[in-house]
Amino acid sequence: MNSIATDAQARDALKAGARVGLKSDKITITGGNPLKGRISVRGAKNLATKAMVAALLGETPSILRDVPDISDVQVVRGLLEVYGVKVSSPAPGELRFDTSNVEKAHFAEIDAHAGSSRIPILFCGPLLNRLGEARIPDLGGCRIGDRPIDFHLDALRAMGAIVDKSYEGIYITAPDGLHGANIHLPYPSVGATEQVLLSAVRAKGTTELTNAAIEPEIMDLIAILQKMGAIISVEPNRVILIEGVDRLEGYKHRALFDRNEVASWAAAALATHGDIFVEGAQQSELMTFLNVFRKVGGAFDVEEDGIRFYHPGGELKPVTIETDVHPGFMTDWQQPLIVALTQAPGISIVHETVYEDRFGFTEALNEMGANIVVHKQGLPDHPRRVARRDFEQAAVITGPTKLTGADVRVPDLRGGFSYLIAALTAEGQSTISNVGIISRGYEHFVDKLAVLGADFVFEG
Ligand code: EPU
Repeated sequence: MNSIATDAQARDALKAGARVGLKSDKITITGGNPLKGRISVRGAKNLATKAMVAALLGETPSILRDVPDISDVQVVRGLLEVYGVKVSSPAPGELRFDTSNVEKAHFAEIDAHAGSSRIPILFCGPLLNRLGEARIPDLGGCRIGDRPIDFHLDALRAMGAIVDKSYEGIYITAPDGLHGANIHLPYPSVGATEQVLLSAVRAKGTTELTNAAIEPEIMDLIAILQKMGAIISVEPNRVILIEGVDRLEGYKHRALFDRNEVASWAAAALATHGDIFVEGAQQSELMTFLNVFRKVGGAFDVEEDGIRFYHPGGELKPVTIETDVHPGFMTDWQQPLIVALTQAPGISIVHETVYEDRFGFTEALNEMGANIVVHKQGLPDHPRRVARRDFEQAAVITGPTKLTGADVRVPDLRGGFSYLIAALTAEGQSTISNVGIISRGYEHFVDKLAVLGADFVFEG
């Protein structure tokens, strides 16, 4: 039996961990119970946080519905408030943004709210538009260098921005305002595409963005900007045209559901021989995932209000997949799925082509009994379908392997969720520390584990 009796208790405990960020909070899980039951997902972390930034562009208030109660939302809310945006919650899961008193902020206040989120970089366009300058704090552990945000800064420079770097972060101005430009992304980066959208909607003239990302969350952001008065057309072959306008209004919008969260719970159902109905999941944004889920041996039923994911019995099957930009198999789906693949007889191969180093989490899975070999240079004799990057890595998973409980520490959001799945699948007890990170992107995951019958004790 789990030791969290009610949703409210779990939420309070979770929030306490989430608020202080990386507090050493722990969950102890006894594996072996198939996860069974019904849970719901709300708006996507990777849309809601950007929609919140977009509200800053509106001259009138905006309302966002289905906002997930996750700590990344709290980070962005805090940052908006620093700039004088009044944020209120008129109803559960609903946020209202009043932008009538947007003002400059002291750098110390900005820095205090930034934490480890990458979202502050997306404030550039709206802040340049509203205040004529943007101060962007350190996005992570290291000081900002060109490398991880070079596409963002190059795009802003092409639109007329001047970027100054200092030990405090970066300071961006646009003395003559932003203007439209022809921008080609070296890679269809989600963040850089959002940067261009949020900056070009109020720039003078037209921006043509080529090699743009076209993830469903980006389409939802474009829908929001269109509601606000923007003129954006999505053309064939990853081309997006943005005609700058003089004024944008607020919006009312229900955020697109979180397909990464859905895929994570689906993988949990498969690995634990469970049966989970995920209310709010929609088929169209999950088609690529559903194909792979079926090939691995999972079953699903698409209903009007969600999707049921279950293990239909029999053996799972090994697969070879490669992560890619939309409409490919998302990089955020591989970590939870790999746990299920440890239970499939045979050899599965996962090529990671989006991030340079996203298999670190497999070490702990090996400690739990998995057989996963990571090839840092990829597998030369397994050519990828899409040769897009200079780098690739491959994880070779040999299954089935019995997993046994271990003490592990959450390294990152998706890796962290995969440890939950591994512990739920394993024989014996596992203690997972640093689980506060999981609340960055998984709303009330402790409540949901309780609802699904997991056997755990949560120490918030
Ligand atoms: N890249 C650069 N320079 C840039 C920007 C990106 O080299 O200026 C590289 C990155 O290093 C990476 C690749 O381009 O190798 C793709 O990065 P992208 O910009 O597409 O990712 P992102 O916008 O930083 C978002 C999500 C990620 C998700 C990726 C891919 C948010 C807040 N994050 O990141 O989500 O994996 O797109 O779909 O939207 C997560 O939710 O756990 C997560 C990491």
